[in-house]
Amino acid sequence: MRKKLLATVVGTAAVLAASSMTSAQELNFDEYRQMLRDGNPAELFEMEGEELWVTARGPKNATLEQCDLGLGPGVVEGAAAQMPRYFADTDKVQDLESRLMTCMETLQGIDSKEIIDGRFRQGERGKVAAIVAYVTGQSHGHKINVDLSDPKVKDMYDLGEKAFFYRTGAMDFSCASCHSQDGLRIRATGLPNITTPEGAAEGWGSWPAYRVSNSQFWTMQHRLWDCFRQQRTAEPIFGSDVTIALSVYMAGKGNGGEAVWPGVKR
Ligand code: HEC
Repeated sequence: MRKKLLATVVGTAAVLAASSMTSAQELNFDEYRQMLRDGNPAELFEMEGEELWVTARGPKNATLEQCDLGLGPGVVEGAAAQMPRYFADTDKVQDLESRLMTCMETLQGIDSKEIIDGRFRQGERGKVAAIVAYVTGQSHGHKINVDLSDPKVKDMYDLGEKAFFYRTGAMDFSCASCHSQDGLRIRATGLPNITTPEGAAEGWGSWPAYRVSNSQFWTMQHRLWDCFRQQRTAEPIFGSDVTIALSVYMAGKGNGGEAVWPGVKR
């Protein structure tokens, strides 16, 4: 049984999506999650992203190799673990996705509007996701290390905390309605208590992730978009301040925890 499921995971995740629920129910969920990690198809996205990083593209026909993710132009290793962070050139606290938009626009001439108004997994926004897979993979195993001593980052943390507890929408839910209790689980996905350092590190440190159930790779922007939807509230604008503030809150609270990027989820 175990061998069979493992082979399915490594082989075709799509097949697993169809068969996983019955198999998973017979398994211990921790064991199931470990097996998923052993054959994470996110590697394919990492490879695509690495290729995109070094490929000359856009109206300016340039690569992303001079992109500054906070540790200097072109430094990728460990950079994601220290994001979101404040960038002087844009005078903004940026998460990885919004920073990549800046690099793509300034270096390659790719209009951010195309990404902001685009759709997940398609066009330039889809390419951003692959690059996110590559960049976060270069922080795999690093400790989450967001600089809350920077006042601009701290401001965003405070805003993110407010947003996290802000009740809105038809159901009057906040993020906290679903993410402030220990030991919750929906199907095979643990619902971490994001108001604790351990839970915040678990949530922040495991996205972006490959989702076996639909064979899709989702960045944190995509994860948040879906949670806004679960909260029955207005769709957030891609890369907007509220999404970045929520990320700063989760990352900052999770400081010191381990990033297992890219993750793999049911
Ligand atoms: C109605 C309940 C609900 C609300 C409200 C909600 N979420 Fe979620 N959240 C979920 C569920 C369910 C999952 C797991 C989804 C899955 O794997 O399909 C999840 C997953 C997550 C994860 C990933 C956790 C992990 O370890 O994989 C993060 C981070 C997260 N939510 C953040 C938020 C934030 C921030 C908000 C507020 C904007 C929010 N959520 C609002 C239900 C909710």
